[in-house]
Amino acid sequence: MKKIAIVTGASSGIGKRLAAGMPQQFSLDELWLVARREDRLLALGKELSLPVRTFALDLTKKESIAALKAALEEEKPCVKALVNASGYGIFERFDRTTEEDVAGMTDLNCRALACMMHTVLPYCERGSIIVNIASVAAFQPVPFGAEYAATKAYVLALSRAVNREMKPRGIRVLAVCPYWTKTEFFDRANPQGLITHFDCMYDPAFIAKKALRAMKKKKDYVVPGFVAKATHALTKLLPHSFVMKVFLAQQKLKNK
Ligand SMILES: NC(=O)c1ccc[n+]([C@@H]2O[C@H](COP(=O)([O-])OP(=O)(O)OC[C@H]3O[C@@H](n4cnc5c(N)ncnc54)[C@H](OP(=O)(O)O)[C@@H]3O)[C@@H](O)[C@H]2O)c1
Repeated sequence: MKKIAIVTGASSGIGKRLAAGMPQQFSLDELWLVARREDRLLALGKELSLPVRTFALDLTKKESIAALKAALEEEKPCVKALVNASGYGIFERFDRTTEEDVAGMTDLNCRALACMMHTVLPYCERGSIIVNIASVAAFQPVPFGAEYAATKAYVLALSRAVNREMKPRGIRVLAVCPYWTKTEFFDRANPQGLITHFDCMYDPAFIAKKALRAMKKKKDYVVPGFVAKATHALTKLLPHSFVMKVFLAQQKLKNK
């Protein structure tokens, strides 16, 4: 039986770095790469040392999940790892966010991620792992990133609960909760420059390295980096109303 890993969001940022790390992490026969920009997936495939299959799919569309399901049904592989890194956010006041993005963020960050997990789990075996990219935004409400943060809270809660459920099958689910990370994410999330204060900006390669390391441990979530960990600790200690107040002041968004 063919052993594969599937990485969504493999065309850039954190997903691309995680896809590149898969051949070192597992003994694989094939790597399946998913995102809309196929040229990027093909270019990544050329850099890797194992056969790659690309899926140019928009995961907000239900038929995209159906296409992946059909490919799995045909090949019947063993899925050693699924990485759900496709995702996007919009920093804007909720009532000024377009309806397309209101639906789009939940469709991609929540529905597609959950459906990918559900589609892949029948093909997982003892030792398989699902890695879901959440965010430190999962731990607190974020004004002007309200829906994005809510989708990430969903990802974290879903990942941890399914991880517990899958214990008897020996399958793990790991949520990765990055802080600000220098990727194309901001081209889409912050085109107006509404968010101006970044106390720290991590490299996507660093986030991927920490995630790959956490995959070998028993944790159900990881917060990569010192500043990220400190922020996470503060959001656990302080009332969320205070954390939101500080965030609005830092970003000069109090009266926007
Ligand atoms: N950057 C940060 O500060 C940060 C912090 C915390 C968490 N995160 C999370 O990390 C994950 C990866 O983001 P990133 O920072 O690496 O950003 P990125 O470089 O923009 O990567 C996002 C990936 O998602 C894919 N994608 C977007 N829309 C899609 C769609 N409709 N269907 C399929 N794939 C789609 C993109 O590929 P195509 O455009 O080719 O489809 C791309 O590969 C996201 O879930 C993000 O929320 C990011």
